[in-house]
Amino acid sequence: VYSDAKTASVAVADKIAKLIKAKQARGEKAVLGLATGATPVAVYGELVRQHKEEGLSFKNVITFNLDEYYPMKPTAAQSYVTFMYDNLFSHIDIDKNNVHIPDGTLDADAVVAFCVEYEKKIEELGGLDLQILGIGRTGHIGFNEPGSAPNSGTRMVTLDDLTRRDAARDFGGKADVPTKAITMGIGTIFKAREIILMAWSKKKAEIIKKAVEGEISGEVPATYLQLSDNVEFVLDAEAASELT
Ligand code: F6R
Repeated sequence: VYSDAKTASVAVADKIAKLIKAKQARGEKAVLGLATGATPVAVYGELVRQHKEEGLSFKNVITFNLDEYYPMKPTAAQSYVTFMYDNLFSHIDIDKNNVHIPDGTLDADAVVAFCVEYEKKIEELGGLDLQILGIGRTGHIGFNEPGSAPNSGTRMVTLDDLTRRDAARDFGGKADVPTKAITMGIGTIFKAREIILMAWSKKKAEIIKKAVEGEISGEVPATYLQLSDNVEFVLDAEAASELT
């Protein structure tokens, strides 16, 4: 628990930078699982700063994003492709061929094959070294909404009504928020060698209490993280304020 989100975000960015450098020193790739949304913005900001001011290189980094709305054009303002380029990829020296984000433009009947391939690519690269997560007010991680199975893989899902309400501002109203998304599964996330879930502000306090102290259940998918030995929750004081 950190006093504020900025300090916490810098600590997470430092951890990511350390992993990248350790891999670089061994001539290896770092395989990162990334999240979008408000939560990781300052983490990406700090990584960009370290790239520009301290020479942190992303040449050995491969990334897999958790999710994307479906359908979604990559060029749309609300797409997670736009988000990732605006907040990170356009400002660093990552090889764009090493960037993977679920494809929101596929025909519905091509989605399953895409998802199987997404999982396969992660595995072929040796698995995710580190997965970073935010948490939705439904308890979702990625877009694994209530009802998601602990062994779920990358797949098409239906978004919870609360998730669509929370996204309404970005889309100029709930009616325009897609009803579906493609997301890595809980099982995909679990295979990462290290998982960091971040949450900031009072708005997340209630769901953080459930995720950390509540009964493990598909009703609150983030509770499955209680079963992992490799997970760290990084919180600001407000998000942690309801923990006993
Ligand atoms: C985003 C994602 C979601 C968000 C969650 C929190 O890629 O997978 O699980 O992390 O909805 O969103 P923010 O950070 O906007 O509160």
